[in-house]
Amino acid sequence: MKNTVWHGARRRIRMQDVGPRDGLQIEPVFVPTADKIALVNALSRTGLAKIEVTAFVSPKAIPAMRDADEVMRGIERAPGVEYAVLVPNVRGAERAIDVQADELNLVMSATETHNLANLRMTRDQSFAALTAVTTLGHDARIPVNISLSCTFGCPMEGDVPMAVVLDWCARFADLGARGITLADTTGMAHPAQVSAIAHAFRTRWPDLQLTMHFHDTRGLAVANVLASIDAGVDRFDASLGGLGGCPYAPGASGNACTETLVHALELMDYDTGVDLAALLAASRRLPALVGHETPSPIVKAGRRLDLHPVPEWFDEVAARARDRGPRI
Ligand code: COA
Ligand code: ZN
Repeated sequence: MKNTVWHGARRRIRMQDVGPRDGLQIEPVFVPTADKIALVNALSRTGLAKIEVTAFVSPKAIPAMRDADEVMRGIERAPGVEYAVLVPNVRGAERAIDVQADELNLVMSATETHNLANLRMTRDQSFAALTAVTTLGHDARIPVNISLSCTFGCPMEGDVPMAVVLDWCARFADLGARGITLADTTGMAHPAQVSAIAHAFRTRWPDLQLTMHFHDTRGLAVANVLASIDAGVDRFDASLGGLGGCPYAPGASGNACTETLVHALELMDYDTGVDLAALLAASRRLPALVGHETPSPIVKAGRRLDLHPVPEWFDEVAARARDRGPRI
């Protein structure tokens, strides 16, 4: 029986890998600049729509991103791929414009507590700084996206009213942002909630780019992606190998895993444009960079039809069973 609900019929889904930024920002080891550049270059050849290359943040806040300028200058840009960078303030925007990023991905949190912990600013202070950043982006003709952290729940404040999230979206839409990313920073989202917020957003801003950014902290990332697609969303952040997390969000853990999503979505007849074999080859190189295995289930288990040989004792057991005749 064909499941018409989940059948994609080759609908285009844009995959945006945030591994070089969200994936590496929480790792205790410093991945050498040349390895970061090689990682981004490998991702560039897989068919992803966008790559978040790095973050122009304080090197004291996120030491892993202290080589952001060199990484952006060192990568080879593939045609058709957008190279975005995370920006928390005017200083970050100036650095991003200097290296000609394709998109400024502004960041602030939907909750006051996480914003203060992560960015050391009140939300109003962040909004004022990001208003100035947006002007800089527009002057430099670089599109602006805003990633709103903790939209589906805050690890310190709890539930976030949908009206609060939509109010921040409205303020950034009015500033002229090209897109908004609703980020589930610590995996608190669930499909019913995702569906409600995605429908509300789409109804209010049908022409604004909407990206969903899930973490798999409670195992719901794939379910949340499917609920989003059902509500009309076609852009997703995900991280190679399922690495990731915000160091200033207690309890944070890995992003939705890029290869898990590509594997699942292609099985369901969605068109991600991503070469899964190339993605997996890049993912298998991550443990050498970060010093531990990644959570990637597809690296561990293989693709659905990566079959296993029968056990070596199989032929003998099978022959004996066949020789025995009927067994009632
Ligand atoms: N790039 C590089 N350096 C920056 C910077 C930027 N975008 N913004 C500030 N700095 C530097 C300042 O020059 C200053 O350096 P100094 O101590 O050598 O003089 C130092 O950082 C402190 O600057 P200040 O403006 O007082 O920042 P702060 O200490 O209040 O921190 C942020 C504010 C936003 C810069 C910081 O909290 C931050 O970068 N957070 C990012 C967190 C993050 O990326 N989380 C994960 C993603 S969700
Ligand atoms: Zn994240």
